[in-house]
Amino acid sequence: MTVRNFLIAGNWKMHGQRAALAQVRAVADAAAALPDRVELSLHPPFGLIYAAVEAAAGARLAIGAQDCHIQPKGAHTGDISAEMLVDLGARYVIVGHSERRAGHGETDAVVAAKASAARRAGLVPIICIGETLDERDAGRTLDIIGGQLRASTPDDVAAADFVIAYEPVWAIGSGRTPTEGQVAEVHAFLREGLRARIGSGAERVRLLYGGSVKPANAAALLAIGNVDGALVGGASLEAADFLAIARAAPI
Ligand code: PGA
Repeated sequence: MTVRNFLIAGNWKMHGQRAALAQVRAVADAAAALPDRVELSLHPPFGLIYAAVEAAAGARLAIGAQDCHIQPKGAHTGDISAEMLVDLGARYVIVGHSERRAGHGETDAVVAAKASAARRAGLVPIICIGETLDERDAGRTLDIIGGQLRASTPDDVAAADFVIAYEPVWAIGSGRTPTEGQVAEVHAFLREGLRARIGSGAERVRLLYGGSVKPANAAALLAIGNVDGALVGGASLEAADFLAIARAAPI
């Protein structure tokens, strides 16, 4: 049986100025005491990545970004490439977060291209998918998730090291979470979909749950079958909360 390490990833979104580097240092200091099977990443805004990498140097804490451009360089004002992120010391990049799909019009094809760009540069992409409340209420969750899984992961995904994050759009920042049964259903469906697509390599892919993960609900969510970690937004801004979530992994 393949043993997958847990990944607890903290998405700071557009929060955090230089003072927030103290939170990175606090997580870095505490990371050594976590079980080996619990890995951590923090994803601050672009401007803090380099300093965060320095703050996490030598610690069991990876630094990642929240987005990247498809091209390695060029005339793309305001954008940053996966290669540039690697140069700063980043190891992961989130792609296709629902806030980028909604706020920047990113399609599944764009998300897949960004995941390819990440791999080209040597970053591990965390590819986000998830249904809206209307889609869930209409009974279309698995259709939507299946379509996003196919279309948001690159065609050459078989050999890839990548992570999928299931984030129901209605659970993000809302304090609402799906039932354990709903999470289990989607994650089992994702694992099956990956098996059909890439065969035995599917066992190595980590499937994160995201959307209102807090210290109080982390143990229950992380204990669900095929949940290999969490993508944490608001609760990743405070080191104590983020670490409490990491400590809740059922090891
Ligand atoms: P949240 O955000 O934990 O604040 O709900 C999760 C996410 O958007 O990744």
